[in-house]
Amino acid sequence: MDNVRSHPQGQERGHSPLLRTEFTLENKQIESARAHVSTIGWGELYLNGAKVGTEVLNPGVTDYEEQTLYSSYDVTDQLFSGQSNSVGLWLGRGFYDKSIHDWTGLGSPRGILQLNVEYNDGSTDTVVTDTSWTADGSPITKNDIYDGETYDAQVEQPGWASPNFDDGSWSTVTAVQGPSSNFDWHPQRLPPIKVTNSIRPVDISQNDGDWVVDFGQTIAGWVELTIDGAREGQDITIEHAEVLVDDGELSHDTGNLNMEDLRDADATDTYIAKGDDVETYEPRFTYHGFRHVRVFNYPGELSPDDIAAKVVRTEREANGRFSASNDDLNDVHHMVTWGLRTNTHSIPTDCPNRDERHGWTEIFRGASTEYYEYETEKTHRFYEKWMRDHRYDMRSKGMVAVTIPDQVSEEDPNWSKSTVQCVWHMYEHTGDKRVLADNYPMMTQYVDHWQSRATEEDREHIVPAKYNTFGDWLAPTTEEIENDPAMLNTFAHYQTTKTVANAAAALGKSNEARMYENRASTIKTAFNNHFYDETTNTYGSGDMGTFAMAMHGGLVPKGAEQAVADELASTIRNEYDNKIGTGTISTQGLLMSALMEYGYEDLVYHLVSQPERPGWVYMARNGATTLWERWDSDTQIGSGMNSFNHRLWMEVGEWFYTKLVGIQPATPGFERVLIKPVVPTELEHASAETETIRGKIAVAWEQYTDEFVLEVTIPGNTTGEVWVLANHQSAVYEGDTCPAEDATGVTYLRHENDYAVFEVSAGSYTFHSDSTPVDKRFDS
Ligand code: BGC
Repeated sequence: MDNVRSHPQGQERGHSPLLRTEFTLENKQIESARAHVSTIGWGELYLNGAKVGTEVLNPGVTDYEEQTLYSSYDVTDQLFSGQSNSVGLWLGRGFYDKSIHDWTGLGSPRGILQLNVEYNDGSTDTVVTDTSWTADGSPITKNDIYDGETYDAQVEQPGWASPNFDDGSWSTVTAVQGPSSNFDWHPQRLPPIKVTNSIRPVDISQNDGDWVVDFGQTIAGWVELTIDGAREGQDITIEHAEVLVDDGELSHDTGNLNMEDLRDADATDTYIAKGDDVETYEPRFTYHGFRHVRVFNYPGELSPDDIAAKVVRTEREANGRFSASNDDLNDVHHMVTWGLRTNTHSIPTDCPNRDERHGWTEIFRGASTEYYEYETEKTHRFYEKWMRDHRYDMRSKGMVAVTIPDQVSEEDPNWSKSTVQCVWHMYEHTGDKRVLADNYPMMTQYVDHWQSRATEEDREHIVPAKYNTFGDWLAPTTEEIENDPAMLNTFAHYQTTKTVANAAAALGKSNEARMYENRASTIKTAFNNHFYDETTNTYGSGDMGTFAMAMHGGLVPKGAEQAVADELASTIRNEYDNKIGTGTISTQGLLMSALMEYGYEDLVYHLVSQPERPGWVYMARNGATTLWERWDSDTQIGSGMNSFNHRLWMEVGEWFYTKLVGIQPATPGFERVLIKPVVPTELEHASAETETIRGKIAVAWEQYTDEFVLEVTIPGNTTGEVWVLANHQSAVYEGDTCPAEDATGVTYLRHENDYAVFEVSAGSYTFHSDSTPVDKRFDS
C-alpha cells in the first residue's frame, strides 16, 4: 500500500472531512478491481456516488501506533471503463481522535487508499491517495465517539462523491505521516461493525415540551429520525441514556434521562435541518448506549413511525438458544445476549454508555458464553484480533495492562490474565492449535513475569499484595481491594501457570509442559501453606469469594474438597443469607465448579434464581434488559461509575449452557462433548442448543415426579458422553422401550453420583429414566 496518507489542508472543521478525486479508466473491459482502504479513526469509502460496503464505524479500533487495520473490497462492478470515475473518503474521529480527559486521542483523522484495476488484457491501473486529492468540510460539523455528532444539513454538497462534481472551491490535501513511523498494517479479518437491526419505540411521552422515547431494550447504536416540516436551520437534539431517574433515583416512568452516569460523555446528537418537507437523519461517526432518548425541538408530534433505534455492533449471527421453565432465567438469558450484543465493537467493551468503551481485560470471562451464543467462526476471528492486540501491547518483561488496547498503566493479575485464559477459551471451543501456537510465546512471557514477582518477597510463589489493583471488584459485601489481595493474585498466578502447562502439552512441548506443571504445583503448595486453614476448612479471610477461588482453581488439597464445600455452603447460609457475596473475580468460581461438584446444585440454583439483591433476577425484575455493572446499580445513580449495561456477571450465561443444560467440550473443539445437566429440584425443564465448530448440539431435559427425560442431539464426527440422572443404569431407556445400553449408538459406561453415564455417537436420542430424581434441596 502507498505510504501517503491524505489529510485535508487547513480544514479541521469538526474533524469530519470529505476527500475526493476523479480518474479516467482506459476503455477496456475491467477484469477485476479491488480497493484497499484504511481510515483512522473511522471512515467510509465512496465510488461513483455510492458508499462501498455496508460496514459502519470502520475499521476496528487498535493501538494505532503499533498496528492499523485496512479493509479490502471487490469494486469491479462499481467502476466505469473509458469514463471519468470518482472516489471519495468521508472521515470521522473514532477512537483515534477521541475527546475525553485521560483517554486522549492520537491525532486528527486520516485515510489512505489504493485501488487496483486489472483489465482483461492483463494491463493494470492504480489509483492512490496523494496530494492531487481535494478536501472540504462535511455536514458533520462535530463528531466524537462519546459526545455525539452534529450534522448541519444546510451545508450538504450533493454529488460530492460523483464524477464531474465541481470541487473548485475545495482545498488540496496534505500528505501526513501514518500513526507512527513504525506500525504494521493488517487486513481486517474480524467481522465488521454493522447496523444489524432496528427497533421501534414501546412508548413515547412528553416532558416539558420534549419527546421522551422508550425503546424497551437497552442497546448500543443510534437513532434514526424522520423530521416532517422543520424550518431551515432548526436544530433538533437527541439525548441518550440507559435509564430514567426521578430526583436522583431510578424510576421507570419519569421523563428525566439519567445523564449523570455518562460522566464526561455528552451522548447528544444534533441535526440542523435544511428545510425540506421531510428529512431523515442518522449519525455516522458516534454511537451511544441507551434505551431512552429525549428529543428536543422536534417539529410537530413525534410518532413511532418517525423514530427507530438502530442496533450497531460487530456483526455475527446469534446461534445459541436457551430456555427454562423459570421465566426469570429466560429474562436473565435475554440480558446476557443483549449484554454481549451491545458490548462488541471490534473489541469486547466494558459498557457502551459512558466515557470508556475500553477492552477492560477482566471482561474476557464473557468469551466462553459468546462461543455458545454466536457464530463460532466469527467469534473466533474477533478474539484472534483481540489477542493480537494483547501481543502488540505487552510491555517489556511480560507486563500486560488492564485495558487492551492499552489505555492505562495499571496491571492486575486477575485482569490481564485474559492473555492466557482467553486464548484457552478459544482453544477449548475450536481445537485450533494455531491460536495456541501464535499466542504461546506471549503466554509464557506473561506467566514468567508474574513468577518473577512471586519471588520478590520471602513468601515465595505468593504474588505480593502490592500488585493487586482492583481486588474482587464490585463484590457486594467487601468493597474492592479489601479482601485478600495476595490470595487473589496467587490464584491468578496458579490458574495461568496451569493453563500454560496445558497449552505446552497440547503443542507437544513436553519439557515445558512439565516445567510449568511443576511450577504450578509449587504455587499450589505455597497457596495452601499461606491461605488454607485446615482446622476450619477455610481460606484467607473466609469470604465467599476466597473459597470460590480456591475451589474453582483446583487449589484445594486432595481429599479436603467436600469439607471445604460444606464449609462454604454453611458460610453462604450463615453469613450471606443465601445470596451472592462475590465480586467479578470469584463469581465465576462460585458458579462454575466450587459447589456444583459437591452436592450443592440446589444452592447454586438458588443463588442464581432468587429474586433479591444481590442477584441477576433482582436486576431482571427491576427493569433490566442488559446486565448491570453493579449488583446494586439501582442505588448507585451518580456514584461516578455505574452502568446499566456492562459485561460483568456474564458468566451466568456460561452456567446456563455448561451446567444447567450441561453442554461442555470434553476435549478441545467438541470432538468429544460432555452432556451433564445439573437438575435443580425446583426446575421442571431446561433446554439449549448451540452451533459449535462441529455442528449443532441440542439438549433438553424435563423432570416429572417419577421420570426424567433427556433429549440429546450430537453432530457428525463427534462422540457424546451423556450423563442421565438415574438411580441405576437399568432404569434408563432410550426411545420408548429400549433399555439404553442396548440402543444403537449407545454404550453404557458406568453409574456415578446419581447419573448413568453413556457414550453415544452422532445422532439424536431420547433417554427416559423411571427413577425419582434425588432431592438436593439445601437447608435454607
Ligand atoms: C470498567 C471496568 C473495569 C474497572 C476497573 C471500570 O470503569 O468499566 O470494566 O474493570 O473500571 O477500574
